[in-house]
Parts: sequence; C-alpha cells; structure tokens
Amino acid sequence: MIAKEVIEEIRARCNIVEVVGAYLPQLRRRGSTYKCNCPFHQEKTPSFTVNDARQIFHCFGCGAGGDVFRFVMDYEKVDFVTAIGILAERTGVELKYEGGAQPEKSGNKDVLYKLHTDAAAFFHRMLLEAPEGAEARRYLEERDLPPELVKQFQIGYAPNDWEGLLSRALKKGYTAEQLEAAGLAVPSDRGGRTSHYDRFRNRIMFPICDQMGRVIGFSGRIMNKAEKGAKYVNSPETLLFHKNRVLYAFDKARKAIVDSRQAIVVEGQIDAIRCHQAGLENVVASQGTALTENHARLIKRYADEVILVLDSDAAGLKAALGSSEIFLATELSVRVVTLPEGEDPDSLIRKNGSDAITALVATAPSALDFLIEAFQKQEDISTEAGRMRVVQAVLNYIGHCSSAARRDPMIQQAADRLNISTAALKQDLRRAKQSQRPVRTTEPEAPAPKLPPRKTYPRQETALLELLVHHYREVHPLVHDFIRPELITDETCRKLAEILMLDPPETLTEGFHEYDDEMQKVITRVQVEESRTIDTETRPVELAQRYILLFWKRFLEREQADLARRSDLSNEERFKETTRLRLDIHALTKGWEEARPMLETRLHSDVDF
Ligand code: CTP
Ligand code: MN
Repeated sequence: MIAKEVIEEIRARCNIVEVVGAYLPQLRRRGSTYKCNCPFHQEKTPSFTVNDARQIFHCFGCGAGGDVFRFVMDYEKVDFVTAIGILAERTGVELKYEGGAQPEKSGNKDVLYKLHTDAAAFFHRMLLEAPEGAEARRYLEERDLPPELVKQFQIGYAPNDWEGLLSRALKKGYTAEQLEAAGLAVPSDRGGRTSHYDRFRNRIMFPICDQMGRVIGFSGRIMNKAEKGAKYVNSPETLLFHKNRVLYAFDKARKAIVDSRQAIVVEGQIDAIRCHQAGLENVVASQGTALTENHARLIKRYADEVILVLDSDAAGLKAALGSSEIFLATELSVRVVTLPEGEDPDSLIRKNGSDAITALVATAPSALDFLIEAFQKQEDISTEAGRMRVVQAVLNYIGHCSSAARRDPMIQQAADRLNISTAALKQDLRRAKQSQRPVRTTEPEAPAPKLPPRKTYPRQETALLELLVHHYREVHPLVHDFIRPELITDETCRKLAEILMLDPPETLTEGFHEYDDEMQKVITRVQVEESRTIDTETRPVELAQRYILLFWKRFLEREQADLARRSDLSNEERFKETTRLRLDIHALTKGWEEARPMLETRLHSDVDF
C-alpha cells in the first residue's frame, strides 16, 4: 500500500488540467472549464470536461469521470498503484509504501519505468564521461551529432562489457529478473544455473520514449561496420515496449504536431534527430518497422495529415503503399516524399542543408498522385491489360477510405489522371468493394466503444447532491437535520449524501480514489453540472425544503405500502399506524411550515428510526 500522505502530496502537485492536457493536447479552455472530444468514447462534439477549480474531469456523453488518478487509470488502462507511480514520476514525489518495504515484483510497471530511466542515464553518462566512451564520442562527432543533440535525445553508449549495465543495476538494488523483464538483460543457461548478461554491448544507445517522455526501450547501433552483429539491436516486446505502437521522438514532436496538425514520418532515429535539428520538429521515426493501425491512431489523435518520407527503392514503394492505406483508413490525409536515390533525410540534410528537406515536404504530392505515378511507371499503360492493373490498384487503394466525402474527390482525381470517366471508376469501385473486403495489414483493434447505455440516477437525488456541493453553507443545516440516509433510494447517491452530511464538499477530493466507480462518476457530474437541474429562480434553501418534503413523502408512501403486508401487527395497531401515516403524508403536501413539526416529531422519536 502506498502511504496516504504520498498520495495526497502527488494530488496536490498535479494540476489535472496539465496532466490531461499532456495526454490530450486538443484540450481547450471554454469559459471556466476545459473541453475536448472524449477519449473514452467516439464523439464529434466535445462533451469531455476538465474542471480546474475542482480538479476533476467528467464526460457528459459517456458519464466517465473522476480525479487525476482516475483519468490516468482509465486512459493508460492501469491499476491505481501504477497510476500513482506515473504521476509520482511526473511530479518527482518519492513513493513511500506503508510499512516501508517496496514490493519486489519484476512484472511491476513502476519498477520497469524506473529501471529504464536509470539505464538511459547510465548509458548517457558513459558516453559523456567514461574513458571507454571515447570511441563512441568520436563516432558521433564524425556523424555530426553535436553535444546539444546528444543531450536533447539523451543518446548514450553501452560499454563493451557483458555486465556493464547489469552489475551497476544489481548494485542499485534491481534484480536480474527485473532487468530481464525490461529486455535489458538476456538470460543464459550455465550448467543448469541461469545467469544474465547485457543485451546491449558496445553500441550507441537511443532511448525510445512513450508519448509522455518516459523511457520504455532502446535501440542500439553498432559503431563499426566491420563488427559482426546486426546494425541495430532493439528492445524486445516488454510490459512497457510495444514496437507496433511506439514512434520514435513522438514525445519531442508532439507539440509541433499539434500546432501544425501534421506529422512527418521518417524511418531512422538519426533521420528524425537530424530533422529536428534542421527545424522540422513534427518529425517522428517508424524505426524501420511497418506502420500499423496503432501508429495511425496515435497520430490521428493529434494531426490531420501525415507525410511519409521514404526511400526511393522498391521496398520503399511497397512500404508507402501499405502505410498510405492504413493512414487512409484512419481518415488521415497522406502525402508522400520520395527522396533522391541513395539518400535518407540525414544524408540529404547534411549534404544539401535543411532547405532540401523542407522543400520536399512542402511540395510532396498526395499519396494518390504518388501511387498513380508509381503504378504507371511499373505498368505499360498503353496496353489495355496494363491500364486495368493500374486502375485495379488505384481502386483497391481508394477502397480503404470509408468516408464518401473523402473518397469522391479522390475518384475524381484518379479519373482525371487515368483518363477514365468518373462514373466508370465509381462503378468499378462498387464492384471491387462487393467482391473483396479491403485487406487489413494488421490485426484490427477494437474501435473506441460507441456510447454505452448509461446508468441513470434519480434526478431529485442528484439534485440534492448538487445543492450540497454548490450551496453547502446554506443547505447543509437543513439537510443535516431533516434527511436520513434511508430516504435516498439510490445506493450511490445515498453513500455520497452521507459523506456530504458529515463533511463539506472540499473533503470529497481527499480520499476520492477510495470511492467506487459509480460514486466517482456521480460526484464528478454533480460537481461540474453547476445548476443544470437546479432552477436558478428558487433559493437553495427553498429547494432543499422541497426535496426534503418529497423524499419524506416517497418514504412514508413506501411505509404505507409495507404496512398492508405486515402480519406482526394487530388490527388495532395497523389502524393506528395507517391513520398516522395518512395524516403525516397529508401534512407533507401542505408545505414546509406545516410539515416541519411533524418531521421533527418523527426524527426525534426512536420508534421509526
Ligand atoms: N533498423 C532496425 N534493425 C536493423 C536495421 C534498421 O531496427 N537491423 C531500424 C532502425 O530503427 C533504423 C531504421 O530501421 O534507424 C532505418 O534503418 P537504416 O536506414 O538501415 O538505418 P539509418 O537509420 O539510416 O541508420 P544509419 O544512418 O546509422 O545507417
Ligand atoms: Mn542513415
């Protein structure tokens, strides 16, 4: 268990607007709150709200809501303890566990994050300071990667040693199993006994970060061509690192991507670094793997357009086609930059300066134009068969786009370029779509859920909570004296009312994470709703009185119904009780002043409560 003080300290240091904003840069101020499209369900107009004053979020669409911890839990799909760890790291608060001891679990994400942070720092230090880092320093100098860039991207050096990182990490208290789980050490069987050695040896190390800038993996390059082994060695899939989801330098590019609504995707780490140096800050790298729907979705959250920068060879064309289809299916606009033969962005910029790449980006053709061009080069379009193959390929590409609004201009464009009538092309497209569903290149992931059926709560009961939250000082004495938890029918509303009857709404924040999901949802809605259901004409006190009368009336009517079924009463007792209930219910319809003495009698006799 994490100590309570620590949780509250993290809460105090995290502004929910900043934390949510870090995940959802689209978050914009609207009046007294912040809004954007909800990350937890599909929507076109923002109903996701973050309230700075109350430090909560709430979605009017799907009902999601809670405090900063809940947001991180829901967004990252992690448990409470992991969410605390993420925010602890962000705020620099040291985690203290109740009872002192840290849980020693190699499968614990917290430990893996910490280990990656420490490993990145170690490699970086080795590169900057260690005598054995001299060759690496020379290599980077030769490649024209100056100290500012080395620092900005925290480039490092893994020493030429089987236990360079391992021995230091063990000294720091990590276990070999944790290093293995992080992909930093490899197990080996030595005469029936398992020992471990460093995965990365004698390599230039590029830390790979997630969108939040936390190190989650590494890519290590050899320095010497003559040396055996792959040019790059990468972290394996771990609890933190999923190659088909991560884009190198995304954390550093994110702001520029949001500002320009455009992401540029290159292949190599060094290419991305060089582009950033050249002033293109919205550049990320795919790190040599095929782009997936996950990559596309990540970019789609921040940008409207992707620019693919690819090698001019055949593999590059194939990659361009596959990636374009995926981005097209995600409803991103795609343009393609073809590099001069034999160049990558790094070599091009070094040779011809930053203008060379910015010019290529500025004039990049749409993916459709690029593909038509490429297909036409491959096929002889003077023959009918060749032309049909091009048409087929183009149709297949356009078929990946499900939005008619986007598809129609593409069909128009393709028809012009291919010298075919639009009508004919449309007809072919329909036929193609019927005969073959578009081929997916990656496993489809479940799309964001459509609006789930939302649990509803009795309106008057949430309205009472609203009164307590927004007009606590005026209504609390009344509610405290005249409401009993039994009067509130919905369990969630009842639990919240009980808390508010004891303590002012400010205390709701503290210990927020201890409430169950339903309570968190209701209370955040009530907190942001600010008199949506309360009419502003009536004074809060009068409203509270009205609700008190209403809740009592409902309660006594239930009693009345129960009475008929009670067999423990004699006829005389039943008659007396029925009469009393009828009179009291009648009193309740006469307004506050008439009902009040009756309520006081009931509340102060122990018989009924
Ligand atoms: N890559 C990899 N494994 C390899 C080769 C490449 O993971 N064996 C990835 C790396 O992320 C690399 C990218 O693919 O950055 C592009 O590969 P390549 O073009 O060969 O390398 P460059 O990035 O150009 O690296 P350098 O300029 O140092 O040759
Ligand atoms: Mn290169």
